[in-house]
Amino acid sequence: MSDPLTAHRLARDLESVLLTQDAIQSRVRELGALIDRDYAPDDEPLLIGILKGACIFLSDLLRAIPRHVSLDFIATSSYGAAVHSSGQVRLLKDLDKPIEGRHILIVEDIIDSGLTLTYLKRMLSARRPASIRIATLLDKPSRRKQPLTPDYVGFAIDDLFVVGYGLDFDERYRNLPMIGVLKPACYQKMV
Ligand code: IMP
Ligand code: MG
Repeated sequence: MSDPLTAHRLARDLESVLLTQDAIQSRVRELGALIDRDYAPDDEPLLIGILKGACIFLSDLLRAIPRHVSLDFIATSSYGAAVHSSGQVRLLKDLDKPIEGRHILIVEDIIDSGLTLTYLKRMLSARRPASIRIATLLDKPSRRKQPLTPDYVGFAIDDLFVVGYGLDFDERYRNLPMIGVLKPACYQKMV
């Protein structure tokens, strides 16, 4: 197999690789099987992807769930060019359809403070879905400001700012197939 640090040109900007493409793919397949097992045979969950970071995880997770599912998206305000949340969550794009009576699975790239998902969970609960669960690829439990426990977690990680597989720094690096930590020089170039 090729060296993960040279397999993608942008991977040269990584100081370290935290999760390889293979590790991510096999965990996503496991999550898909777990999710499928947890819903009743006739349930058709609505997966709600949080744009933009969750789009790559969502597209792989979707194909790992061997039953009918529907898809919708929500967008919240992003960090911009900062590595820490402003603490303010704003809704930029709402769902296309009502969710009353539906089984909702919110799909997120990473949970940090928990503010985004606490806000979204409260907002969506008010619309009376049949259930709400949360699947996140990454979790940074040590950074939590709101008590929030996701139902499905790909990997719990330390308090590091990571990029790749949908996760960005200032809109870049989402297209890296692996997840890693940027070299300090790559932040400095942009701020
Ligand atoms: P929370 O509201 O603090 O839980 O923030 C969650 C959002 O912050 C995620 O959906 C990401 O968009 C962003 N985020 C948090 N940590 C990271 C990171 O390490 N890399 C890239 N984005 C991050
Ligand atoms: Mg996000």
